[in-house]
Amino acid sequence: MYARPDSQKNVVAYCQEKGIAFMASKCLGGLDARDGRRDLRADFPDLAAMADAKGFSAHALCVAYYRHRYPHMLLIPGTRTVAHAEDVAAARDVRFTEAELAAVDGMRKKRKKAPGA
Ligand SMILES: NC(=O)c1ccc[n+]([C@@H]2O[C@H](COP(=O)([O-])OP(=O)(O)OC[C@H]3O[C@@H](n4cnc5c(N)ncnc54)[C@H](OP(=O)(O)O)[C@@H]3O)[C@@H](O)[C@H]2O)c1
Repeated sequence: MYARPDSQKNVVAYCQEKGIAFMASKCLGGLDARDGRRDLRADFPDLAAMADAKGFSAHALCVAYYRHRYPHMLLIPGTRTVAHAEDVAAARDVRFTEAELAAVDGMRKKRKKAPGA
């Protein structure tokens, strides 16, 4: 969600058009997620609600969204735990309707400033 190509849309669109792989870092919030300055559920409550409704975590939904919307993107989600790795791997089982994909397209970060940031 954080690495969506709002700020890099020309490069991402160019790569998609030409079939060039685009490696996206910090797709789950990067190092800021480790110290609480970013929190996918708190920052994107609409995503969290959709994830709950679909029976997946917000992190799995986030990775699944990238895979559906930007198939030329290579994601390198990072984690320190097997449980989180397995959780994110469940992204492969997420299916979206077009309406759901459009809804995620329109989601923007809700939390302006994290505590202590
Ligand atoms: N960003 C860079 O510039 C960069 C450069 C070189 C290499 N890398 C490597 O690329 C990989 C990804 O790093 P990134 O910076 O792009 O980070 P990221 O994948 O955007 O975010 C990682 C954060 O997400 C959390 N997380 C992952 N799965 C989760 C889940 N299922 N539920 C809740 N939290 C979850 C992790 O916490 P937990 O650890 O607690 O699961 C960690 O705090 C890492 O191996 C990193 O070493 C990154």
